[in-house]
Amino acid sequence: MALTREEAVRRLAVALDASEREEVLRLAGALRGRVGVAKVGLEAFTAHGPALVAEVRELGLPVFLDLKLHDIPNTVERAASNAARLGVAMLTVHASGGEAMLRAAVAGAAKAQRPPAVLAVTVLTSLDDGALAELGIPGGASGRVAAWAALAQRCGCAGVVCSPQEAAGLRSALGPGFLLVTPGVRPSGENRGDQRRVATPREAIAAGADLLVVGRPITAAADPVAAAEAIVAEMAS
Ligand code: C5P
Repeated sequence: MALTREEAVRRLAVALDASEREEVLRLAGALRGRVGVAKVGLEAFTAHGPALVAEVRELGLPVFLDLKLHDIPNTVERAASNAARLGVAMLTVHASGGEAMLRAAVAGAAKAQRPPAVLAVTVLTSLDDGALAELGIPGGASGRVAAWAALAQRCGCAGVVCSPQEAAGLRSALGPGFLLVTPGVRPSGENRGDQRRVATPREAIAAGADLLVVGRPITAAADPVAAAEAIVAEMAS
């Protein structure tokens, strides 16, 4: 079933990956109403911290804080609790941190008045089977993603970050309520950069992704608003 434009906008997150505060806020301001979520990741957060999260929120965009926490459970619980208190809608941890760490992240986030959705990053979309083999992780990306996503669900995570290529399999294995968030989205014909497990916006939606994360195809475009509009149109087509 085709999405309405409104639904497609709601399901598009822009990755505000920039080191300059002004650039992050300029993009967030311009893209308000054209995307549903603003993702603040390591690049912007290590430069400007919680103050920038507050500024993006004040522009009226829900914030997805993508810090990919990965540490001992006690540290992750406290960091997740601090992150949740910033009023973000979503935050990320690495699924490979294991069961105790994932449960700690969920418990930490739950301390906030409005707990954010805790999302477990499965296998980075920049890694392919060859890169995993080099790390000594057998079975390829799809098997690893399926196992880590099932673990994340058992631990109370609201969803996972995965490649659009894994979304359909996860949707049927894990059911309709589990959030599937997919970076590695590249409009047809676009440079994939350092991403490896990629798909187009239309393919990601068809595979059952709830939220598409798009960075450089929007933020590095000559006209980011037009780029976001084109992706929304492709999602809704
Ligand atoms: O520019 P691009 O569209 O590749 O940006 C994708 C964004 O999604 C980046 O902010 C990156 O940190 C994030 N991400 C990812 N792969 C994951 C999790 C998050 O690319 N598995």
